[in-house]
Amino acid sequence: MIGRRAWLGLASGVSAAGMVGTLGTWPGVAAALAGPAPDSAFGFAPDRVPMNAANLCPMPSAIGAAVARFAAELDRDMSAGNRRRVEGFKETARAGIARQLGVDADEVAIVRNTSEANGIVVQGLELAAGDEVLLWDQNHPSNHLAWRVRARRDGFTVREFPVPAHAASIDEVVDAVTAALTPGTRVVSFTHVSNVTGFRMPAAEICAALRARAPSLFIHVDGAQTWGARAADLRAMGCDSFSGSAHKWYLGPRETGMLYVRADRQDEVAATVVSIPWGGDVTPEVTGARRYEALGQRDDAAIAALAETVAWHDALTPAAVERASSAVAERLREGVEDLGLPLVSNGHPDFRSSVVILRAGDGARRRLPELILEDAGVIAAATGGLRFSPHVYNTPAHVDRVLAALARHRDLLG
Ligand SMILES: Cc1ncc(COP(=O)(O)O)c(C=O)c1O
Repeated sequence: MIGRRAWLGLASGVSAAGMVGTLGTWPGVAAALAGPAPDSAFGFAPDRVPMNAANLCPMPSAIGAAVARFAAELDRDMSAGNRRRVEGFKETARAGIARQLGVDADEVAIVRNTSEANGIVVQGLELAAGDEVLLWDQNHPSNHLAWRVRARRDGFTVREFPVPAHAASIDEVVDAVTAALTPGTRVVSFTHVSNVTGFRMPAAEICAALRARAPSLFIHVDGAQTWGARAADLRAMGCDSFSGSAHKWYLGPRETGMLYVRADRQDEVAATVVSIPWGGDVTPEVTGARRYEALGQRDDAAIAALAETVAWHDALTPAAVERASSAVAERLREGVEDLGLPLVSNGHPDFRSSVVILRAGDGARRRLPELILEDAGVIAAATGGLRFSPHVYNTPAHVDRVLAALARHRDLLG
């Protein structure tokens, strides 16, 4: 059976901190996400199976229920005391996210999504004519076009670098990035895992090589396809800032996200929105990265439920979530290879991710997700080709349904 070895390998060494005995195989992971009601771990319809985590994940039913519960609690009692109680969960979420990512709570802002987090870095850094911003050509528009829009206003230069799609070594990739540096480069910004190819950048090696050549460089990493998908230690990665959306792989409430800015670089990144709870003076009264979330009234129920999402990840452990997500992606990749269908995504172990993209011509690309939905009851995307981004809620049976549909439509692929 396809991907069997990887799948069975999950069964070892995973503990759910008392929520369920042993995790590792679905529905074990999903069961732990749901708590005592494994059958309702996720609420998606059997013929509408999401395999599009790179875009949007379903919340575990328990997290959806937490959003609704906190919202009802606020509507029932809007007194200052009750609002403060619910808002207080933001600090719980912040502390947990920071701990999971290996950084300090004062370095993490709770924002609305990756676009906003990227936007704070794009707009907040001081840049002028003569300065250069260097971007991976696969960056998302919020980390690519956004720089160009700002550059037109402020007169700095934006350049991009490609990375060999079929790179076979980390050195090859690191060299492609460092070769693009010029004496004027002030910022390098790249996506950890590309949403258009699934290519996973060797972020720690890139950051180390860039720092060795230009110690004062500001390095931003877009973690939209990383946070919740892979266990990450941002201190070890060595970036200056990192962004993510909880509604993707982190399985959290919609319109919640995070921005990490390293403590000693925060004075270089100005806040772009100043409102409550900044304080009453020009100097922010809030500490550290909280300056980036002075956005006025927020969806406090969603943010409180984000704190519960943190607890689920703690119980599962980010490493187990990564193993479960990677195993289902591996099963899909192997099945696609067995069918002889061409992949856009680099399959090298150093560069692969849970974002698996098949080559599809422009015309077919738009039709294919509809055909896959009709045939397999699985939701894919037309980004970069025919894109599947499976996560912990996907089963071997979902993958096999996709593979059967791909075999039927193989004439449209390639
Ligand atoms: C790499 C990357 N960055 C940023 C974003 C934007 O995420 P959001 O729409 O949650 O702001 C996406 C969305 O797919 C993405 O793939």
